[in-house]
Amino acid sequence: MKRRGFLQTGLVAAGAALALPVRTFGADCADMAGGLYYTVESPGRWAAKAAGHAPNVSVRSGADGAILQVVTGHEMKPFEHYIIKHVVLNDRFRFVSETMFDPTSGKAPVSEFHVGNYRGKLYVLSVCNKHDTWLKEVDLT
Ligand SMILES: [Fe+2]
Repeated sequence: MKRRGFLQTGLVAAGAALALPVRTFGADCADMAGGLYYTVESPGRWAAKAAGHAPNVSVRSGADGAILQVVTGHEMKPFEHYIIKHVVLNDRFRFVSETMFDPTSGKAPVSEFHVGNYRGKLYVLSVCNKHDTWLKEVDLT
């Protein structure tokens, strides 16, 4: 095949791939638990790991509104096994904020997020370098 024909075929294939229906996140994303992400209720292949990976979230009032404290009860063994970060998403699964962790710091994976007067659901993620992403839903209604 000549180069021009190859490029045209490639572009048609790419266009066809883009025309495929794309599944969007929404209320039905709960069926992705245990696969795309994990929860205590749906730990998937990491059933024995739920306790040390699911983020524990507490909410308290601050001067400027609600403050989420996120704790993952996980070891921080530098670059072998540790929590990479905590992420907060809004009720549309859009990024709100994150805290990255340095496994050489000697600090536990604990973070705080000031969410002001936000009302609704938030999704908190804790990401392990070996055991993937764990989600906890928090309702601030
Ligand atoms: Fe882990």
